[in-house]
Amino acid sequence: MVNVIGLGYIGLPTTLMMASHGVEIIGTDLNKELVATLNAAKTTFKEVGLDELFADALKAGVKFTTEYQVTDTYIVSVPTPYDKFSKKVDAKYVVAAVKQILGICPKGATIVIESTVSPGTIDKFIRPVVEESGFKIGKDINLVHAPERIIPGNMVYELLHNNRTIGADDREIGEKIKEIYATFCQGEIVVTSIRTAEMTKVVENTFRAVNIAFANELAKICRHDDMDVYEIIKICNMHPRVNILQPGPGVGGHCISVDPWFLVGDYPTLQRLLMSL
Ligand SMILES: NC(=O)c1ccc[n+]([C@@H]2O[C@H](COP(=O)([O-])OP(=O)(O)OC[C@H]3O[C@@H](n4cnc5c(N)ncnc54)[C@H](O)[C@@H]3O)[C@@H](O)[C@H]2O)c1
Repeated sequence: MVNVIGLGYIGLPTTLMMASHGVEIIGTDLNKELVATLNAAKTTFKEVGLDELFADALKAGVKFTTEYQVTDTYIVSVPTPYDKFSKKVDAKYVVAAVKQILGICPKGATIVIESTVSPGTIDKFIRPVVEESGFKIGKDINLVHAPERIIPGNMVYELLHNNRTIGADDREIGEKIKEIYATFCQGEIVVTSIRTAEMTKVVENTFRAVNIAFANELAKICRHDDMDVYEIIKICNMHPRVNILQPGPGVGGHCISVDPWFLVGDYPTLQRLLMSL
């Protein structure tokens, strides 16, 4: 049985998706009101296809609670904001969730961190917590990182169709977790190391941030010099190896505006690049 920890924007649809594809699953959240709303068969936000998915999951027996469950597989999907001053990841929610899991889980359990983290977070913050609890990683507790890629507004479709990355210390454990995601995910699921999975997630969103910034800077230059940025981009994109994005209002949400800081935190050269965007 899978216990998803954190039933927000990512944890809830993931829980519903797994439930409606035959996975025995219980969702846990500390927010009593949120759990009461879900138990009253009401969704907590709007997304295309979410109500239908919720109805399917309810039929399949999905459950919501404020209690952590005793089970063999946990998926942690709690917030990972950045520290206001250093802009480095604030891992306190993930650490708190892992500590609570360690307080009740049996030996042999697997903890999947789905929350976005900066490269090295699992080594720096999660492994010490596991070891301090007296568990041996790889023997008593398995760690996995399975970052999420969906775009708000089209998340149900993207949960079903996006490719995914699973980082694990142990290939066999990675493959076992892959089987759970593969119940609903029609994309390719790559199994790799935890460090690589952490890195790919923030590199992807940094790539997006840099390219969005480039298109927007181009728009500013063209406006200043009275040129048509859309025509220029259209012509440039006729080049076989150029694909400039369309200018827009900038990055939104809390992924692309935050995750690049998780990448540059320990790399000053990249930090300077990001500051100049
Ligand atoms: N929202 C997105 O579009 C998106 C996309 C990809 C990745 N992510 C990442 O997914 C993670 C979760 O983001 P989200 O948008 O779902 O956040 P969210 O704020 O919508 O939901 C997080 C939930 O976790 C609960 N929670 C916090 N601490 C808890 C604990 N110790 N035990 C149980 N529940 C706890 C909160 O009550 C909340 O309901 C973050 O790391 C985020 O960066 C988000």
